[in-house]
Amino acid sequence: MLHILLAPLLVTMVMGEGCCPPDAWEGVAFMVASVQNKATHLTKGVLMSHTNFTLGMIVIEGEVHVDGLSKKVIEIKDYNKKIKYDINDGRCIKKTLQSKIPRCLPENTTLVENTYIGTGTEKVAVKMYRSDVGGLETNFTVTANECIPIVVIVSSIIPNSEVMRVYEYSGITVGVKDPSVFDIPAICQKAVTMDCDADPFLHDSDTNIPI
Ligand SMILES: *[C@@H]1O[C@H](CO)[C@@H](O)[C@H](O)[C@H]1NC(C)=O
Ligand SMILES: *[C@@H]1O[C@H](CO)[C@@H](O)[C@H](O)[C@H]1NC(C)=O
Ligand SMILES: *[C@@H]1O[C@H](CO)[C@@H](O)[C@H](O)[C@H]1NC(C)=O
Repeated sequence: MLHILLAPLLVTMVMGEGCCPPDAWEGVAFMVASVQNKATHLTKGVLMSHTNFTLGMIVIEGEVHVDGLSKKVIEIKDYNKKIKYDINDGRCIKKTLQSKIPRCLPENTTLVENTYIGTGTEKVAVKMYRSDVGGLETNFTVTANECIPIVVIVSSIIPNSEVMRVYEYSGITVGVKDPSVFDIPAICQKAVTMDCDADPFLHDSDTNIPI
């Protein structure tokens, strides 16, 4: 009886650290977020995400709509130099980046389910993982073999703190076609460093979400 009970427990104890996306990849992320920040804000956007782990950089660019107002955003994270550049309406702000590059799913991520999406010849094997860090529950759905993100859902598990972010990925390719996306734009050369909170509309820079 005991081993029957233990078997599923062992499955859920598998760590997510072994789940690491390719060394360089890019794709589109559709994002919807509800963030409480004095008032509740609804953000949605379409973002291009470019990652090169060897270079230690992640660049996200696109357009977000915050409570219906649209703004173009570019976020450049240079993990080797520990700097994040936020370019917003033609202004560039530098911030210190504390976190390590999210090379793989975070420590203590547990496998919830081996399942699939689609059906028949269009069936794709996926793994669902869950991680609870810093009062946030993050659910990752990734392809089973290459750990390519499909959906990431971040939700607060602290009462009265409302955060819910959903990222849906598509059009992912391995490699980065145009390496100049990692160049620091001229307007950032003289940017001042502002160490305020992470942009609540996009995501927190310290949440290790591999986008
Ligand atoms: C992972 O779990 C271990 C043991 O429960 C704990 O000591 C450690 O702080 C956890 N790490 C994170 C990042 O939560
Ligand atoms: C995350 O996964 C856990 C475990 O399967 C589940 O209980 C929870 O409802 C999921 N959360 C979301 C927001 O999907
Ligand atoms: C990633 O960066 C490394 C180091 O600069 C470079 O050698 C490599 O070609 C890059 N990979 C891609 C796919 O751009």
